[in-house]
Amino acid sequence: MAEFSLPPNSVIKATGKSYPAPAGSSRTKNFKIYRWNPDDRQNPRYDTYALDLDATGPMVLDALIKIKNEVDPTLTFRRSCREGICGSCSMNIDGSNTLACTKPIDEVKGEVVITPLPHMEVIKDLVPDFKHFYAQYASIKPWLQTVTAAPSGEERLQSPEQREELDGLYECILCACCSTACPSYWWNSDKFLGPAILLQAYRWLADSRDEMTGERLDALEDPFRVYRCHTIMNCANVCPKGLNPAKAIAEIKLMMLERAG
Ligand code: SF4
Ligand code: SF4
Ligand code: FES
Repeated sequence: MAEFSLPPNSVIKATGKSYPAPAGSSRTKNFKIYRWNPDDRQNPRYDTYALDLDATGPMVLDALIKIKNEVDPTLTFRRSCREGICGSCSMNIDGSNTLACTKPIDEVKGEVVITPLPHMEVIKDLVPDFKHFYAQYASIKPWLQTVTAAPSGEERLQSPEQREELDGLYECILCACCSTACPSYWWNSDKFLGPAILLQAYRWLADSRDEMTGERLDALEDPFRVYRCHTIMNCANVCPKGLNPAKAIAEIKLMMLERAG
């Protein structure tokens, strides 16, 4: 687990530093951003940055990059692709988990409140610690497992119908927006795998080429790993890729039931 712990929200000071918009700004908007530095021994706070939207790109990530480049280089966050592909800019914006690079600023009424993904330990500012999440991902063995040899000199082929079974699964970018919106995962993330990892687990159960279905189901058969999902559906509501982890979890439960006869 993480080296750094996040003090409870109740100790977050309502006001931190305020950075005014540049003189002559034509269309200003405030960005209220969670700040916490493990090195200064201070409580978390919110800093507020006023930007001129006419001099800022359209997405929340554009605003964060502008703040870091032009206003406050100490602001820390993750990003890479700027195209909704890498999953690294996931955070909570205006009360909902999403990707900063695909979230239009104009969708937020009033000031834009930005915090790290909820219920994860924080390394610094908007950077959560993914170590536990990735360890859970590794636990489901997210790779093709076979026991028979591949047809000599050929790939392991799928029919178009078999390939279609992976639609709605392979698109997952492991951003963790769903898992960190799931109340069951908030309270049981030590034992419950959560929607993102279970969607990934089903991705391999649904793959016609995989030959370890029984072993994969055995590994999930546990009172907590799958069955802490109570179909609350937060996961499907927040997924920035439009995926439905709750449906994948239901498919896993169905496979378990069918196997039990
Ligand atoms: S449907 Fe299941 S996994 Fe999704 S948010 Fe609800 S409890 Fe969590
Ligand atoms: S299912 Fe959606 S929200 Fe969850 S990790 Fe994958 S892409 Fe992110
Ligand atoms: S920067 Fe890659 S998903 Fe946002």
